[in-house]
Amino acid sequence: MKAMTYRGPYKIRVEEKPDPVIEHPNDAVIRVELAAICGSDLHLYHGMLPDTRVGHTFGHEFIGTVEEVGSSVQSLQVGDRVMVPFNIYCGSCFFCSRGLFSNCHNVNANATAVGGIYGYSHTAGGYDGGQAERVRVPFADVGPSVIPEDIDSEDALMLTDAFSTGYFGAQLADIVAGDTVVVFGAGPVGLAAARSAWLMGAGRVIVVDHLDYRLRKAEEFAYAETMNFGQMRDIVLALKKATGGLGADAVIEAVGAEADGHVLQHVTAAKLKLQGGSPVALNWAIDAVRKGGTVSVMGAYGPLFSAVKFGDALNKGVTLRMNQAPVKRQWPRLFEHIRAGHIRPRDMITHRIPLDHIAEGYHIFSSKLDDIVKPIVTPAA
Ligand SMILES: NC(=O)c1ccc[n+]([C@@H]2O[C@H](COP(=O)([O-])OP(=O)(O)OC[C@H]3O[C@@H](n4cnc5c(N)ncnc54)[C@H](O)[C@@H]3O)[C@@H](O)[C@H]2O)c1
Ligand SMILES: [Zn+2]
Ligand SMILES: [Zn+2]
Repeated sequence: MKAMTYRGPYKIRVEEKPDPVIEHPNDAVIRVELAAICGSDLHLYHGMLPDTRVGHTFGHEFIGTVEEVGSSVQSLQVGDRVMVPFNIYCGSCFFCSRGLFSNCHNVNANATAVGGIYGYSHTAGGYDGGQAERVRVPFADVGPSVIPEDIDSEDALMLTDAFSTGYFGAQLADIVAGDTVVVFGAGPVGLAAARSAWLMGAGRVIVVDHLDYRLRKAEEFAYAETMNFGQMRDIVLALKKATGGLGADAVIEAVGAEADGHVLQHVTAAKLKLQGGSPVALNWAIDAVRKGGTVSVMGAYGPLFSAVKFGDALNKGVTLRMNQAPVKRQWPRLFEHIRAGHIRPRDMITHRIPLDHIAEGYHIFSSKLDDIVKPIVTPAA
């Protein structure tokens, strides 16, 4: 089969790989119909994540058709069209039984913090991902769901990570009616978080980025006010001024370890590798939230420590909440919102790229060219 393969930082190719096979009775093999490239894949593409091995296939957002099932699989049949959450999890360990699917204890022999993630390096279990014609899905009875007939394919794809993660970010922000919510990052996760904040009763939503075209998207897609930190001397001060001097009730950080906006942080993180990522956006979030407010962190950070303003967070009484999103938990409610016409996750998609051209897709997405927000990949094209 054809699959995207990693060859080293900024180098990917489409190669012929052996078709995946059933390795365990609860596996399924899925023929991929649509996959997406995520902001998280860019951390891999940039060589930021340890133990990203040459030959690995990325892709943790995909939908497709069941082609083969192992002997113990009961909830899926050959021919079913399924959406697959980006997390791989057993469904029955201490953590899974508490709904902490992204923290499953049985799927990642390489770490005890994060569970398994498709196509996300050997730090997340080393499972090949879905930017390919086929993919092996372990615990087939647990993760995938048959796509409801009335749910659009591209909407389903956006629920396998980006939109559900933004929604989860808004859930963790503890929003109550009338709250002012600030979202750092106008990528797909930030856009979805901003859109979701309204569903939870926010009275005001402000999105911060430095890419004007993405801020325009935040206005159209998420009905948010916007601020461009690249055009401001001090974004925290500007946010304080905009929020009566006290700060926002809740802040959602949807940027992660490759944040721009602070040269020293960038150099110590990306160039010198002295910290696990540049926590500029996270520090801005801690500064911009009001005392006693909540900071919800969806942006990804590596296992190394980062220079986070912990003392300020403590002294302000800030609640910090975070996790990899256990996305399947969000699906039932998001199906309802889609059916009711409250959201249309597929409106985030800006680029549809054939698998053969995926290297170009990564380049455009990484360099933020052509007003790209969310690229998806079509293996069958
Ligand atoms: N927790 C989870 O489960 C989960 C799931 C998916 C993605 N993520 C992470 O969420 C983050 C966002 O994902 P995405 O797909 O939207 O990525 P993206 O790269 O498309 O978007 C990030 C945006 O942040 C902006 N930005 C950079 N520095 C900033 C700063 N200092 N302040 C404000 N904005 C800044 C960029 O211009 C960009 O528009 C990534 O770190 C990704 O790895 C986490
Ligand atoms: Zn993702
Ligand atoms: Zn588990």
